[in-house]
Amino acid sequence: MLIKTGRDGYIHPTSSEITPQAVYRQRREMLRLLATGAAGAALASWAGREALAQSVQRPGKLAALAGQKSSVAGAVTMEKVTEYKDASSYNNYYEFGTDKGDPAHNAHTLKTTPWTVEVDGLVKKPGKYALDDLLKLGAQEERIYRLRCVEGWSMVIPWVGYSLAQLLEKVEPQPGAKFVEFHTLADPKTMPFVGSRVLDWPYVEGLRMDEALHPLTLLAFGMYGEVLPNQNGAPVRLVVPWKYGFKSAKSLVRVRFTDKEPKTAWNKAAANEYGFYSNVNPNVDHPRWSQATERRIGEDGLFAKKRKTLMFNGYEAQVGQLYAGMDLKKNY
Ligand code: MTE
Repeated sequence: MLIKTGRDGYIHPTSSEITPQAVYRQRREMLRLLATGAAGAALASWAGREALAQSVQRPGKLAALAGQKSSVAGAVTMEKVTEYKDASSYNNYYEFGTDKGDPAHNAHTLKTTPWTVEVDGLVKKPGKYALDDLLKLGAQEERIYRLRCVEGWSMVIPWVGYSLAQLLEKVEPQPGAKFVEFHTLADPKTMPFVGSRVLDWPYVEGLRMDEALHPLTLLAFGMYGEVLPNQNGAPVRLVVPWKYGFKSAKSLVRVRFTDKEPKTAWNKAAANEYGFYSNVNPNVDHPRWSQATERRIGEDGLFAKKRKTLMFNGYEAQVGQLYAGMDLKKNY
Protein backbone atom coordinates (compact mmCIF):
# COMPACT_ATOMS: atom_id res chain seq x y z
CA MET A 1 0.00 0.00 0.00
CA LEU A 2 1.27 3.51 -0.76
CA ILE A 3 0.88 6.29 1.74
CA LYS A 4 1.62 9.98 1.69
CA THR A 5 4.24 11.15 4.16
CA GLY A 6 6.66 13.94 4.84
CA ARG A 7 6.65 17.68 4.38
CA ASP A 8 7.27 17.34 0.67
CA GLY A 9 4.39 14.92 0.12
CA TYR A 10 6.66 12.28 -1.33
CA ILE A 11 4.88 8.95 -1.62
CA HIS A 12 6.56 5.86 -0.31
CA PRO A 13 5.63 2.72 1.59
CA THR A 14 6.56 2.28 5.24
CA SER A 15 9.32 -0.22 5.97
CA SER A 16 6.93 -2.76 7.53
CA GLU A 17 4.88 -2.65 4.35
CA ILE A 18 7.72 -3.10 1.93
CA THR A 19 9.69 -5.80 3.73
CA PRO A 20 7.65 -8.86 2.84
CA GLN A 21 7.23 -7.67 -0.73
CA ALA A 22 10.90 -6.80 -1.03
CA VAL A 23 11.95 -10.17 0.31
CA TYR A 24 9.60 -11.84 -2.14
CA ARG A 25 10.96 -9.79 -5.01
CA GLN A 26 14.57 -10.50 -4.03
CA ARG A 27 13.84 -14.20 -3.91
CA ARG A 28 12.21 -14.08 -7.33
CA GLU A 29 15.11 -12.06 -8.75
CA MET A 30 17.60 -14.52 -7.22
CA LEU A 31 15.76 -17.44 -8.85
CA ARG A 32 15.80 -15.63 -12.17
CA LEU A 33 19.54 -14.94 -11.90
CA LEU A 34 20.25 -18.52 -10.85
CA ALA A 35 18.34 -19.72 -13.90
CA THR A 36 20.41 -17.50 -16.19
CA GLY A 37 23.66 -18.28 -14.38
CA ALA A 38 24.17 -14.59 -13.59
CA ALA A 39 23.84 -14.82 -9.80
CA GLY A 40 27.53 -15.50 -9.20
CA ALA A 41 28.61 -12.47 -11.21
CA ALA A 42 25.97 -10.25 -9.58
CA LEU A 43 27.03 -11.35 -6.10
CA ALA A 44 30.71 -10.85 -6.89
CA SER A 45 30.14 -7.35 -8.20
CA TRP A 46 27.92 -6.48 -5.20
CA ALA A 47 30.54 -7.83 -2.78
CA GLY A 48 33.26 -5.84 -4.58
CA ARG A 49 31.27 -2.64 -4.34
CA GLU A 50 30.43 -3.24 -0.67
CA ALA A 51 34.13 -3.73 0.12
CA LEU A 52 34.94 -0.48 -1.71
CA ALA A 53 32.13 1.33 0.13
CA GLN A 54 33.51 0.19 3.50
CA SER A 55 37.02 1.37 2.61
CA VAL A 56 36.19 4.94 1.51
CA GLN A 57 38.25 7.56 3.39
CA ARG A 58 36.32 10.58 4.67
CA PRO A 59 38.11 13.86 3.86
CA GLY A 60 37.27 15.76 7.05
CA LYS A 61 34.93 18.27 8.60
CA LEU A 62 33.83 21.34 6.69
CA ALA A 63 34.83 24.17 9.02
CA ALA A 64 32.56 26.71 7.36
CA LEU A 65 29.38 24.74 8.04
CA ALA A 66 27.46 26.28 10.88
CA GLY A 67 25.14 23.28 10.84
CA GLN A 68 21.90 25.01 10.02
CA LYS A 69 19.26 23.37 7.85
CA SER A 70 17.99 25.28 4.84
CA SER A 71 14.84 27.36 4.94
CA VAL A 72 14.52 27.33 1.13
CA ALA A 73 11.16 25.78 0.16
CA GLY A 74 11.55 22.09 -0.71
CA ALA A 75 15.24 22.01 0.25
CA VAL A 76 14.96 19.39 2.98
CA THR A 77 13.30 16.11 2.06
CA MET A 78 12.12 13.90 4.94
CA GLU A 79 13.17 10.73 3.14
CA LYS A 80 15.77 8.39 4.53
CA VAL A 81 19.25 9.68 3.79
CA THR A 82 21.50 7.38 1.73
CA GLU A 83 24.45 6.05 3.70
CA TYR A 84 27.70 7.96 3.23
CA LYS A 85 29.52 4.81 2.17
CA ASP A 86 27.10 4.34 -0.75
CA ALA A 87 27.03 8.00 -1.81
CA SER A 88 30.82 8.08 -1.92
CA SER A 89 31.50 4.76 -3.65
CA TYR A 90 28.78 4.57 -6.34
CA ASN A 91 29.56 7.54 -8.55
CA ASN A 92 29.57 8.95 -12.03
CA TYR A 93 32.68 11.00 -12.64
CA TYR A 94 33.85 9.99 -16.08
CA GLU A 95 37.14 11.88 -15.85
CA PHE A 96 38.15 9.06 -13.47
CA GLY A 97 36.60 6.13 -15.31
CA THR A 98 33.23 4.82 -16.37
CA ASP A 99 32.59 2.12 -13.74
CA LYS A 100 30.68 3.18 -10.64
CA GLY A 101 33.63 2.31 -8.38
CA ASP A 102 36.29 4.03 -10.55
CA PRO A 103 35.91 7.54 -9.07
CA ALA A 104 36.33 6.23 -5.48
CA HIS A 105 39.37 4.23 -6.60
CA ASN A 106 41.02 6.87 -8.80
CA ALA A 107 40.01 10.38 -7.71
CA HIS A 108 42.64 10.62 -4.97
CA THR A 109 44.89 12.14 -7.66
CA LEU A 110 42.62 15.20 -8.01
CA LYS A 111 44.44 18.23 -6.62
CA THR A 112 41.91 20.55 -5.00
CA THR A 113 44.31 23.19 -3.63
CA PRO A 114 44.94 25.76 -4.88
CA TRP A 115 41.60 26.08 -6.69
CA THR A 116 40.06 29.01 -8.52
CA VAL A 117 36.76 29.46 -10.30
CA GLU A 118 36.74 31.93 -13.16
CA VAL A 119 33.62 34.03 -13.79
CA ASP A 120 33.43 35.54 -17.29
CA GLY A 121 31.31 36.23 -20.35
CA LEU A 122 28.34 38.61 -20.21
CA VAL A 123 28.89 39.77 -16.65
CA LYS A 124 29.63 43.17 -15.12
CA LYS A 125 32.13 41.89 -12.55
CA PRO A 126 34.20 39.12 -14.13
CA GLY A 127 37.04 37.70 -12.09
CA LYS A 128 38.81 34.75 -10.58
CA TYR A 129 37.61 33.49 -7.22
CA ALA A 130 39.90 31.57 -4.91
CA LEU A 131 38.04 28.71 -3.24
CA ASP A 132 38.29 30.32 0.22
CA ASP A 133 36.64 33.50 -1.05
CA LEU A 134 33.94 31.50 -2.80
CA LEU A 135 33.27 29.53 0.38
CA LYS A 136 32.64 32.72 2.34
CA LEU A 137 30.53 34.41 -0.30
CA GLY A 138 27.23 32.90 0.84
CA ALA A 139 25.86 31.41 4.04
CA GLN A 140 26.52 27.65 4.08
CA GLU A 141 23.52 25.51 4.85
CA GLU A 142 22.41 21.92 4.62
CA ARG A 143 20.07 20.79 1.83
CA ILE A 144 18.79 17.23 1.78
CA TYR A 145 18.10 16.59 -1.88
CA ARG A 146 17.03 13.60 -3.92
CA LEU A 147 19.42 13.11 -6.83
CA ARG A 148 18.03 11.07 -9.73
CA CYS A 149 20.52 9.82 -12.29
CA VAL A 150 19.42 9.49 -15.92
CA GLU A 151 20.50 5.83 -15.66
CA GLY A 152 17.60 5.05 -13.34
CA TRP A 153 19.05 5.15 -9.83
CA SER A 154 18.70 7.73 -7.10
CA MET A 155 20.07 8.77 -3.72
CA VAL A 156 19.15 11.19 -0.93
CA ILE A 157 22.16 13.27 0.02
CA PRO A 158 22.64 16.02 2.62
CA TRP A 159 24.65 18.61 0.70
CA VAL A 160 26.37 21.65 2.17
CA GLY A 161 26.49 24.89 0.24
CA TYR A 162 24.51 27.96 -0.72
CA SER A 163 22.20 28.93 -3.56
CA LEU A 164 24.14 29.58 -6.76
CA ALA A 165 22.03 32.76 -7.04
CA GLN A 166 24.13 34.29 -4.26
CA LEU A 167 27.23 34.11 -6.47
CA LEU A 168 25.39 35.13 -9.65
CA GLU A 169 23.86 38.22 -8.05
CA LYS A 170 27.24 39.33 -6.66
CA VAL A 171 28.89 39.28 -10.07
CA GLU A 172 25.96 41.06 -11.78
CA PRO A 173 25.07 39.39 -15.07
CA GLN A 174 24.64 41.78 -18.01
CA PRO A 175 21.07 42.20 -19.35
CA GLY A 176 22.01 40.17 -22.46
CA ALA A 177 22.98 37.09 -20.42
CA LYS A 178 20.35 34.39 -20.95
CA PHE A 179 22.22 31.24 -19.93
CA VAL A 180 25.00 30.16 -17.61
CA GLU A 181 27.61 27.68 -18.78
CA PHE A 182 29.61 25.58 -16.32
CA HIS A 183 33.04 24.16 -17.12
CA THR A 184 34.67 21.54 -14.98
CA LEU A 185 38.32 20.60 -14.57
CA ALA A 186 39.87 18.55 -17.40
CA ASP A 187 43.44 17.80 -16.36
CA PRO A 188 44.93 14.81 -18.19
CA LYS A 189 47.77 14.63 -15.64
CA THR A 190 45.48 13.89 -12.70
CA MET A 191 42.36 12.58 -14.43
CA PRO A 192 43.10 9.29 -16.21
CA PHE A 193 40.03 9.30 -18.49
CA VAL A 194 40.36 12.85 -19.81
CA GLY A 195 41.53 12.13 -23.31
CA SER A 196 39.26 9.12 -23.68
CA ARG A 197 36.73 9.56 -26.42
CA VAL A 198 33.65 9.03 -24.24
CA LEU A 199 33.04 12.79 -24.08
CA ASP A 200 34.40 15.97 -25.61
CA TRP A 201 36.31 17.36 -22.61
CA PRO A 202 36.01 19.47 -20.57
CA TYR A 203 32.66 18.36 -19.15
CA VAL A 204 30.38 21.33 -19.81
CA GLU A 205 26.88 21.87 -18.50
CA GLY A 206 24.44 24.74 -18.70
CA LEU A 207 21.29 26.25 -17.25
CA ARG A 208 18.86 28.89 -18.39
CA MET A 209 19.28 32.05 -16.30
CA ASP A 210 16.02 31.56 -14.35
CA GLU A 211 17.03 27.95 -13.56
CA ALA A 212 20.46 29.06 -12.41
CA LEU A 213 18.89 31.73 -10.20
CA HIS A 214 16.32 29.36 -8.68
CA PRO A 215 16.98 29.06 -4.92
CA LEU A 216 17.09 25.24 -5.12
CA THR A 217 20.11 25.36 -7.47
CA LEU A 218 22.97 24.72 -5.12
CA LEU A 219 26.66 25.50 -5.22
CA ALA A 220 27.89 22.66 -3.03
CA PHE A 221 31.16 22.45 -1.11
CA GLY A 222 30.33 19.54 1.16
CA MET A 223 28.08 16.63 2.00
CA TYR A 224 27.16 14.94 5.29
CA GLY A 225 28.58 18.00 7.11
CA GLU A 226 32.02 17.39 5.64
CA VAL A 227 34.16 18.54 2.74
CA LEU A 228 33.15 16.88 -0.55
CA PRO A 229 35.16 13.75 -1.25
CA ASN A 230 36.98 14.04 -4.58
CA GLN A 231 34.76 11.42 -6.21
CA ASN A 232 31.68 13.55 -5.46
CA GLY A 233 33.09 16.63 -7.16
CA ALA A 234 35.46 18.39 -4.75
CA PRO A 235 36.06 21.14 -4.05
CA VAL A 236 32.93 22.75 -5.50
CA ARG A 237 30.10 21.45 -7.68
CA LEU A 238 26.59 22.14 -8.79
CA VAL A 239 23.51 20.28 -7.51
CA VAL A 240 20.29 20.84 -9.49
CA PRO A 241 17.81 18.50 -7.80
CA TRP A 242 14.94 18.56 -10.32
CA LYS A 243 17.18 17.61 -13.24
CA TYR A 244 18.91 14.36 -14.12
CA GLY A 245 22.19 14.01 -12.22
CA PHE A 246 24.42 14.80 -15.19
CA LYS A 247 23.34 18.45 -15.04
CA SER A 248 25.05 18.64 -11.61
CA ALA A 249 28.58 19.33 -12.85
CA LYS A 250 31.47 18.40 -10.54
CA SER A 251 34.73 20.21 -9.77
CA LEU A 252 33.77 23.55 -11.32
CA VAL A 253 36.49 25.82 -12.69
CA ARG A 254 34.54 28.30 -14.81
CA VAL A 255 31.12 29.98 -14.79
CA ARG A 256 30.40 31.77 -18.06
CA PHE A 257 27.40 33.97 -18.86
CA THR A 258 26.17 33.78 -22.42
CA ASP A 259 23.28 34.77 -24.68
CA LYS A 260 23.24 31.34 -26.40
CA GLU A 261 22.09 27.95 -25.17
CA PRO A 262 25.32 26.23 -24.06
CA LYS A 263 26.57 23.20 -25.95
CA THR A 264 26.75 20.65 -23.18
CA ALA A 265 29.04 17.62 -23.11
CA TRP A 266 26.31 14.98 -23.03
CA ASN A 267 24.19 16.77 -25.60
CA LYS A 268 27.17 16.88 -27.96
CA ALA A 269 27.79 13.16 -27.36
CA ALA A 270 24.16 12.06 -28.00
CA ALA A 271 21.68 14.87 -28.66
CA ASN A 272 18.68 12.54 -29.01
CA GLU A 273 19.34 11.04 -25.56
CA TYR A 274 20.42 14.03 -23.47
CA GLY A 275 18.55 17.26 -24.08
CA PHE A 276 19.52 20.66 -22.76
CA TYR A 277 16.73 20.71 -20.16
CA SER A 278 16.92 17.13 -18.87
CA ASN A 279 14.28 17.71 -16.25
CA VAL A 280 13.41 14.49 -14.44
CA ASN A 281 10.25 13.37 -16.22
CA PRO A 282 8.67 9.91 -15.79
CA ASN A 283 6.54 10.54 -18.91
CA VAL A 284 9.42 10.98 -21.33
CA ASP A 285 11.48 7.84 -21.75
CA HIS A 286 15.13 7.79 -22.61
CA PRO A 287 15.32 6.32 -26.16
CA ARG A 288 16.88 3.15 -24.70
CA TRP A 289 14.98 2.74 -21.41
CA SER A 290 11.96 3.83 -19.41
CA GLN A 291 12.27 6.71 -16.95
CA ALA A 292 9.09 5.78 -15.05
CA THR A 293 10.84 4.13 -12.10
CA GLU A 294 14.11 4.28 -10.21
CA ARG A 295 16.24 2.20 -7.89
CA ARG A 296 17.27 3.83 -4.61
CA ILE A 297 20.92 3.03 -3.95
CA GLY A 298 21.46 1.20 -0.66
CA GLU A 299 17.81 0.26 -0.32
CA ASP A 300 16.71 -3.35 0.11
CA GLY A 301 20.16 -4.81 -0.37
CA LEU A 302 21.24 -6.56 -3.51
CA PHE A 303 18.01 -6.50 -5.48
CA ALA A 304 16.73 -3.01 -4.88
CA LYS A 305 13.05 -2.38 -5.16
CA LYS A 306 12.01 0.16 -7.79
CA ARG A 307 10.23 3.37 -6.85
CA LYS A 308 8.04 5.51 -9.04
CA THR A 309 9.92 8.46 -10.45
CA LEU A 310 8.22 11.77 -9.73
CA MET A 311 7.77 14.70 -12.12
CA PHE A 312 10.69 17.10 -11.66
CA ASN A 313 12.08 14.52 -9.20
CA GLY A 314 9.41 15.61 -6.69
CA TYR A 315 10.22 19.34 -6.92
CA GLU A 316 7.30 20.26 -9.18
CA ALA A 317 5.72 22.64 -6.65
CA GLN A 318 8.94 24.64 -6.55
CA VAL A 319 10.05 24.61 -10.20
CA GLY A 320 7.03 23.67 -12.35
CA GLN A 321 6.26 27.31 -13.16
CA LEU A 322 9.66 27.74 -14.83
CA TYR A 323 8.38 25.56 -17.66
CA ALA A 324 4.79 26.82 -17.99
CA GLY A 325 3.66 26.57 -21.60
CA MET A 326 6.68 24.55 -22.73
CA ASP A 327 6.31 21.21 -24.48
CA LEU A 328 8.39 19.01 -22.19
CA LYS A 329 8.44 16.16 -24.71
CA LYS A 330 10.17 18.41 -27.23
CA ASN A 331 12.27 20.18 -24.63
CA TYR A 332 13.51 17.00 -22.97
N1 MTE B 1 30.59 16.05 -13.46
C1 MTE B 1 31.72 15.77 -14.12
N2 MTE B 1 32.69 16.71 -14.19
N3 MTE B 1 31.93 14.56 -14.71
C2 MTE B 1 30.97 13.58 -14.69
O1 MTE B 1 31.19 12.49 -15.25
N4 MTE B 1 28.73 12.91 -13.93
C3 MTE B 1 27.38 13.43 -13.67
C4 MTE B 1 27.36 14.45 -12.54
N5 MTE B 1 28.47 15.38 -12.66
C5 MTE B 1 29.75 13.84 -13.99
C6 MTE B 1 29.60 15.10 -13.36
C7 MTE B 1 26.40 12.37 -13.42
S1 MTE B 1 25.96 11.40 -14.75
C8 MTE B 1 25.81 12.19 -12.19
S2 MTE B 1 24.55 11.08 -11.99
C9 MTE B 1 26.27 12.94 -11.01
O2 MTE B 1 27.41 13.76 -11.29
C10 MTE B 1 26.63 11.97 -9.90
O3 MTE B 1 26.98 12.66 -8.74
P1 MTE B 1 27.42 11.81 -7.45
O4 MTE B 1 28.50 10.87 -7.89
O5 MTE B 1 27.88 12.81 -6.44
O6 MTE B 1 26.20 11.06 -7.00
